[in-house]
Parts: sequence; structure tokens; C-alpha cells
Amino acid sequence: MEQVLNKLPLNINLETTNIFKQLNRTSRALAELKGVAKTIPNQNVLINAIMINEAKTSSSIENIVTTHDEIYRALVNPSNTTPEAKEVVDYRSAIWEGYKSIKENKLITKSTITKIQEKIEHNNAGFRRTPGTVIKNTTTNEIIYTPPQTYDEIIDYLNNLEVYINSIDDDIDPLIKLAIIHYQFESIHPFYDGNGRTGRILNILYLIYMDLLETPILYLSKYIINNKMEYYKLFQETRKTQNFENWILYLLKGIEYTSKETIQMINKISEEMLKMKRELKNNELTSKIYSKELLEALFYEFVTKSSYIKEKLDISERTALRYLDTLVKEGFLTSEKIGRERFYKNDRLFNIIKNFGDDKTFHENNNIDIETVEK
Ligand SMILES: Nc1ncnc2c1ncn2[C@@H]1O[C@H](COP(=O)(O)OP(=O)(O)OP(=O)(O)O)[C@@H](O)[C@H]1O
Ligand SMILES: [Mg+2]
Repeated sequence: MEQVLNKLPLNINLETTNIFKQLNRTSRALAELKGVAKTIPNQNVLINAIMINEAKTSSSIENIVTTHDEIYRALVNPSNTTPEAKEVVDYRSAIWEGYKSIKENKLITKSTITKIQEKIEHNNAGFRRTPGTVIKNTTTNEIIYTPPQTYDEIIDYLNNLEVYINSIDDDIDPLIKLAIIHYQFESIHPFYDGNGRTGRILNILYLIYMDLLETPILYLSKYIINNKMEYYKLFQETRKTQNFENWILYLLKGIEYTSKETIQMINKISEEMLKMKRELKNNELTSKIYSKELLEALFYEFVTKSSYIKEKLDISERTALRYLDTLVKEGFLTSEKIGRERFYKNDRLFNIIKNFGDDKTFHENNNIDIETVEK
């Protein structure tokens, strides 16, 4: 069957009544998330915590499956961990990289996209140059879709997409545009591999680019993996009918659902920070070392070490060690020595992240696999 991939903008009415209704709900939820995020003084706390789950879940759509315990290992002892856990940590770095890039360049370009994919895939193959890449159902071996094959075609479509992404004064709602951009990016499928993950990072970056979020803190892959069959089905349905309504509704609902989910996660982290603050201040030993900066440092990442505390609090290594030692003795942290270094884990933060990142329904929905393969 001839498979069309139109250039953007699409020449169709995207603002149907159904889309408008959903758009309202989604915009409200997203605006609330943006507001709630601001209540946490140090945004890096949220980015690290939320994006480790985003990275873990988005990777598991690609069947890179790991656990929070393994991710902890990958952070403290990279030489003694699974490749999957390392991939998750690298995925999070890719989000950070993309975030910094759009903050600096104020544009989302082909080069932004390539840099993200390089970080995920650990190679610099760049955009596809050799024909033969197709999207296959790896269970049945059926070819589902053949994306543009030649390098010139791919670049042509990407240039068109780049213009569409960066033309911010057209009158389509940015959330509708996000859905179109995701569809188009995946349909161009410019890389040999990593298109799904790169595209999902692009979604989050686009929200920042359009000022709908200030930092990358939406845990959107959770919705996609919970509704993975529909995600795959809708690509093909949309391609066949060229009616984008269901596709747009799918992503809008996803952003609404995950905004709410992420708000809950932020509230949990916020509550836990407050609780620890109170406990630290009420404890005879820790009240002497308490500072706002210390509390934030303990929540910056669920694992820390003395050199970080030294740097963040601008204190000596000895003092940092003494602080950490006190925190362990008083039950705020647990610690373990790996090689010559000692690591300190904030189990409270770790458990929040783990609870929000573990979802039983994942496995039930994981019975189909769609991948980019060579024909
Ligand atoms: N019919 C389709 N048309 C266009 N794109 C599709 C279709 N089905 C799936 N996709 C996209 O292709 C991605 C898979 O491509 P690829 O293997 O290159 O990405 P990945 O990041 O390695 O994998 P994954 O997305 O599974 O994590 C899917 O996640 C989805 O975004
Ligand atoms: Mg793949």
C-alpha cells in the first residue's frame, strides 16, 4: 500500500469540538503542574527525581527493563551494574542535555535532535544514509510501515519539521502541535534506532520551548506504556485515514493524566522534604547542622557522597563527612562503601520515586513489540 507522509502544516481542521474540550482539560492540568513545580525551591530536585522515572519507563517501551535498585547501582558503581540500568541513567543525561540546549539556543533544530539520539544510542551514526530500515512487529515479523528511505528525503522532511516546530506565531495550540510533531517525527523515523525514545524526549522539550513548562518534569511515558497498544495502533490508523483527531486526543489525554500523576509525585516529595526538615530541626544532633542547602542537597538525588555535600554547602570534606555520619547515625540516610568511596542513600526519596515508577499494568500491556529493523 502506498503510504503517505504529508509535509507540515497539515491542511486539515485540527480544532474539532472533541479536541477543544480535551484541550481545555489538558491545558488546565499542565498549568497546574507548572505552578505546583514552582513550590519546590530547587528545581533540580524535581528534574532528577521525575526524569529518572521518565527515563526508566521510556526505555522499557523499548524493552530495556531494569529496576530502581539497579539504577541506584548504576549511579554509585557504574562498573558493576547492568547495561539496562546504565542506559536509563544515560537517557536522563540526554534529557538534561536537550534541556540545556534549548535554553541556550532558543530553538529546536536537527542538531538538538541528533545530540539527544547520540546520547541515547552511544553512536554518531546520525540520520539514516543506507536504505532498508522499516518498522516491524517483531513478534509476527510483519512490516508495519516503511519510512522515507533516502538521506535526501529524510533531510527534506526534517527541514520541514524544523520550520514547523520553530514557527511559534501560527495559531494552532502548541499542545495540538506537539501531537502532530510527535507523529511526524516518528513517521520520518530519521535514525536507525532510538527514534521512539528521542521523539518522547522531544515532546517534553517542546513543552519547555513553548513555555508550557519551565523544566523537564512531565512523566509522559507512563501513560504511553500503559496504553502502548493504542499508541502503536493509532500511528497506523492515522496514517490510513489521515484523520488526526484520535491521535491528538490520545496525546492530550496522556498529558492531562501524567500532569496529574506528576503533581502527586511533586506533592509527595514536597511533603517528605517538609517532614525531614522538621525532624532534622527537632533532633538535638542534626539541628546543629541543619540548613536549607543541606536539605536540598539530600533531595537533589537519592544518592549522595561527601564531595557533593562539600561542594553544595561550600564546607570542608571533613565537615561534610561529619554531617553525613551524623545523618546516618540519626537514621536520615543509609550508607554503604563501594570501592574506596562511601555513598549515602536517601531512602525516603528513593521509595517515593520507586512507588511512582513501578506500575503493574506495564507487563500486561507489553505483549507487543514494535521496532525499527533492517528489512
Ligand atoms: N506505525 C508506526 N508509524 C510510525 N512510527 C511508529 C509506528 N509504530 C511505532 N512507531 C514509533 O517507533 C518507535 C520505535 O522505533 P525505534 O526502535 O527506532 O525507537 P526506540 O527508541 O529504539 O524504541 P522504543 O520507542 O520502542 O523505545 C515507537 O516507540 C514509536 O514511537
Ligand atoms: Mg529500537
